[in-house]
Amino acid sequence: MERELLIEEVKTLLDLVDCNSTTLADSVMEIDATEYIDSALFQQEKIELFRNYPQFVGPSCMIPEPGDYFAFDDTGIPILIVRNTEGVLKAFVNICSHRGAPLNECDHGKARKGRMFSCPYHGWSYDLDGKLIGVPFGKEGFDSIDRSVLGLRPLDVQEKHGCIFVMPNPELTFDIDQVLGGLEERLSGFGFQDHYYLGAKQVHTNFSWKLNMDTFHEYYHFEFLHPDSIAQMAYSNISTYHQYGRNHSMGSPTLQITDLKTVPEDQWNPRSYSSYVNYIFPNVVIFVVEDHFQTWRVYPISPDRSVVYHSMFVPQAPANEEERLERDAYHQMINDVAVTEDYGLVDKIHRGLNCGIDRKVLVGRNEPGVQNMHRQLHEVLGIDQV
Ligand code: FES
Ligand SMILES: [Fe+2]
Repeated sequence: MERELLIEEVKTLLDLVDCNSTTLADSVMEIDATEYIDSALFQQEKIELFRNYPQFVGPSCMIPEPGDYFAFDDTGIPILIVRNTEGVLKAFVNICSHRGAPLNECDHGKARKGRMFSCPYHGWSYDLDGKLIGVPFGKEGFDSIDRSVLGLRPLDVQEKHGCIFVMPNPELTFDIDQVLGGLEERLSGFGFQDHYYLGAKQVHTNFSWKLNMDTFHEYYHFEFLHPDSIAQMAYSNISTYHQYGRNHSMGSPTLQITDLKTVPEDQWNPRSYSSYVNYIFPNVVIFVVEDHFQTWRVYPISPDRSVVYHSMFVPQAPANEEERLERDAYHQMINDVAVTEDYGLVDKIHRGLNCGIDRKVLVGRNEPGVQNMHRQLHEVLGIDQV
């Protein structure tokens, strides 16, 4: 956010702290408990939200240089994204045209010699634009093939405002501005596209991907579930709320925010006194906090299993080993809070939802972020609002 917007946000947060209130939705929302566990709905979600809907992959700084690539296989279609020799992003279905092996051996790295992928199975090679450029023993073994049509299958990938999105379904395209819905104003102004990627932690969970996402969208639970961790840093149940297309952004005050009352406004450092949850529909949160940001990408595996990637981006590469260890320890600490405090409880919530009792889940007026995610899901999936 540019400074002007940050100042405005901090002023709103100070007002909310003064009256001990939060931004409210119009009414209480009810969600049918079966929405979290229904297997037919799960299959529909896999197709409409993860195969046919553009996916936020990460900030541009995740793959900054020509030859850098990122691969993931969590949407149902294996995806390979690479920055080509001209610096333009390309994305492909990550399936070799020979017998179908994925082309990379790790999820994040540098293409071979910075300019090609060589299949680990029989060595077919492709340039960074997906063209088939090498077939070992090709003259004899594959004398009749037309190499010009055996390149990698391209996917629509777009990069703007420091964000990378990809469409998993090779038949579909998208409009990145429409997908962002203006959310870029919440990501601009702090060098989002130029940070250093510290790495990601992968966590498997035994509950619905939607229950996982619900934990990010409200501050109501801080004082009860996180009394000794997050509630020591930020106010419970106080936040701003802003809608951007299907996405939203929420600001939260630190416990020290009232110190700003004695500081002239032109000397404020708003980021030290507030943090921001930016939700990108359907499955991503970009958390902007203090001097860095984190992304949480959540993918469904089955109705009762999901996987989360928690990535950390810092303003610049750690200057030495000590600084790296410090950053890593912080990354681990935040991840541990989510796993031990949030996920430990959400695991039990899933079992309760799964026990066959007909009931509604209630989402309060003070939980507008949770409401928005489910409202958008209902709209895309064609579920009548109860
Ligand atoms: S599967 Fe890739 S070269 Fe055989
Ligand atoms: Fe939490």
